[in-house]
Amino acid sequence: MKKEILKYLKEYTYDTLMIDRLIVSSFLYSNKLSVERNELILYYKILETDIDEFKVLKEFLAIHKKVGFEELIELFEFVISPEDKVVTGAVYTPNYIREYIVKEAFNQITLSPETKICDPACGCSGFLLTAAREIKKNADISYKSILENNIFGLDIQSYSIERSKILLNLLALSEGEDCEEINIQLFHGNALSFQWDQNVQNFEGFDVIVGNPPYVCSRNIDDESLELLKNWSVCSSGHPDLYIPFFQLGIELLRNDGILGYITVNSFFKSINGRSLRSYFQDASYDFKIIDFGGLQIFKSKNTYTCICLIQKSKGKLKYTKINSIRQLKSKSIPFNIVEYESLEYENGWNLQNSILINKIESIGQPLGKKYKTRNGIATLNVTDKGLKELESMSNVIRIS
Ligand SMILES: C[S@@+](CC[C@H](N)C(=O)[O-])C[C@H]1O[C@@H](n2cnc3c(N)ncnc32)[C@H](O)[C@@H]1O
Repeated sequence: MKKEILKYLKEYTYDTLMIDRLIVSSFLYSNKLSVERNELILYYKILETDIDEFKVLKEFLAIHKKVGFEELIELFEFVISPEDKVVTGAVYTPNYIREYIVKEAFNQITLSPETKICDPACGCSGFLLTAAREIKKNADISYKSILENNIFGLDIQSYSIERSKILLNLLALSEGEDCEEINIQLFHGNALSFQWDQNVQNFEGFDVIVGNPPYVCSRNIDDESLELLKNWSVCSSGHPDLYIPFFQLGIELLRNDGILGYITVNSFFKSINGRSLRSYFQDASYDFKIIDFGGLQIFKSKNTYTCICLIQKSKGKLKYTKINSIRQLKSKSIPFNIVEYESLEYENGWNLQNSILINKIESIGQPLGKKYKTRNGIATLNVTDKGLKELESMSNVIRIS
């Protein structure tokens, strides 16, 4: 995004209504979208008769000629005040990550008119936009129907919920659906205490939960949330980060066999505050895929070490992979290494990288089972001399001959 635009918007950061009017109108005018019925979008649209605002809009459009959905999301993130960003961890997820997570999740379920997809910390609903588009590709139903029946979102900031409504209404409008009103099930509240069963009719759990839970270290968490963390067993070790309970709350909100797909920081593999979460995962032994980005930076605005977690709420194995480039994520299939839950130590941290090494060694050389025994119970391995050296350097492998 051009620097001038961001500098321009900064002046209005604290005037939420003006900011939203400017962003919505720039989207409408730059995409030549007319709106006659949609009441929400009409409320935000700046008209030529709004003389002062229209002048600002024209100046804005002169710098930024084309505003698509991704720019809209970027603008909505940009105008969140720095103070709010610290407390709520608001960082929006790039399109290719949202698409990867949503497609992977949808591959594991059978979509039906009753399918329920939720982002419990939805921001301006980038994930829900991606999910709605993906449903539309697979079913001949209107966006109004998808948004009213299949999509659910929650955020602690009321402006996020308002912007979610805007984004999703614009999605319908841009596809020719100019409806007076779309009743999207978007809620304002704290995910740590939100009662979905009291807000959603006949609630029996979600089929899919997606998102990018807030990363907020314990010293920046607000008092109410700090108190609520005590209700989540995964927060009982160290000083919890706010993203940690989102795993437990997400899994508890899923129906059996449902899928959770998050992008989160990867510190829970090893950190002290991730110990209870690791123990929770090991006890549950869910079908769990981890794509670790290692040092690869996914978020432009934040220096973080992240991973994608795809968890099916049914028993299975842990599969781990580490990727070094975004291209690998876009490739057709990513090879995973299977890690036995029994081989992991929740107390000291998960050594997931070892699984890659072991698989590499297993695929070459001679059988190793007679030469080595491991505390983690690997039965047969093949090994070369180089592999032997690497194995001997691992703490959980003991040579027996
Ligand atoms: C990292 S952003 C992710 C937004 C969106 N899911 C995405 O990926 O683009 C985290 C969001 O969590 C929200 N949030 C923070 N604490 C929350 C809580 N306790 N309950 C619900 N939402 C919360 C923030 O307002 C912010 O919009």
